[in-house]
Parts: sequence; structure tokens; C-alpha cells
Amino acid sequence: MNRIVIFASGSGSNAENIIQFFQNSEQIEVTHVLSNNPNAGVFDRCERLDIPASLFEKSSFKDDDTVLNFLLAEADYIVLAGFLWKIPAAIVEAFPNKIVNIHPALLPKFGGKGMYGMNVHKAVKTSGAKETGITIHYVNEHYDEGAIIFQASTAVTESDTPESIAQKVHELEYEHFPRVLESLILKNG
Ligand code: GRF
Repeated sequence: MNRIVIFASGSGSNAENIIQFFQNSEQIEVTHVLSNNPNAGVFDRCERLDIPASLFEKSSFKDDDTVLNFLLAEADYIVLAGFLWKIPAAIVEAFPNKIVNIHPALLPKFGGKGMYGMNVHKAVKTSGAKETGITIHYVNEHYDEGAIIFQASTAVTESDTPESIAQKVHELEYEHFPRVLESLILKNG
């Protein structure tokens, strides 16, 4: 079994989608969800889906090895699904090409610090870009700069609002993220 641990800071709709996608898989399973946010909607979803979920403190992530040791024991792959903190170097080094993030735009555009959630979709709208999309990429120690695994795009029309752009992007995320994870994990054997 390839074990995935998901990190999520917010609502967790991608986390739920990934959990459900692999529910009947014989090769891949989501074993745990970790969150830095006690109010994250992902906790309710995990309770409903019967997936263990834990809250962790910044210090156990950044300053000592608590989260790293948990991951070394529990995870083959780490999936960031709406997770807002930078991954510490020790975790990146321990999981080379095993940490995958989804970014809700077409990197390298609309990436980097502060570019998360609705900030991204507002920036896309303001820029007048004619398209946006999703980027699934490996995580290195810089925000949004790891090697790109997959992108998919969607048109942005004049009548689109940041909210409608967000909805289009979410649809792409739900369609592609679990499938891209599946193919990269199975390819690695
Ligand atoms: C998604 O748009 C993801 O790409 C971004 O944060 C959002 C998380 O949404 N990084 P959800 O928590 O999965 O509903």
C-alpha cells in the first residue's frame, strides 16, 4: 500500500475528493490528514469519512521533529491540498519527489508568497488574463517553485468574477488532482 498523508488548512474539499477517490483502491490509501488550523472544515469532513485527522502546532512542524517523525512513520507521499505554510527543509529533504502541491493558477504566473485562495483569483481577474487553471507540482523549499507535474487550463471571460473563476478552478482540481496523484504514485511502483 502507498500511504498518503494530506495537509490541509481550510475547507478540505480537495482532501475529501482525494480520500473518496482512493477509498476502494488496493494500492493507494489516505491514512491521515494533518492541519495547522483548529477551525478547518477538513476536520468535519474527516470525521464523516472516518479518516484520522490531527491538529499540529507550528513549533512541532518548524522547530522540532515531531511532524517529521510522524511522517517518516506514516507516509509514503505527502499531498498538500490547500495548505498554507511553507514546508520546512528537513521534511522536503526527507521526502524527495514525494510531496505534491496543487496551486489554483497556471504557475509560474500568480504564484509565490501571499498568492493563495481568493487572492489568486482576484489577481487573475485584475490582470485581465484570458485563462487560468491549476498546477500540480512537486514541493521544494521555495513557494510554488518545484517541478511541474501537470497543468490544466480554463478560459476567463469578461463576465467572470473572482468567485466564478474560483469555481471553475475547483472543478479542474476535483477532476484532475486524484488522477494525477494516482498515475504518479503507480508509475513510481
Ligand atoms: C484550492 O483551490 C487549492 O488549489 C488551494 O486552496 C484551495 C483549497 O480548497 N491551494 P479546499 O480546502 O480543498 O476546498
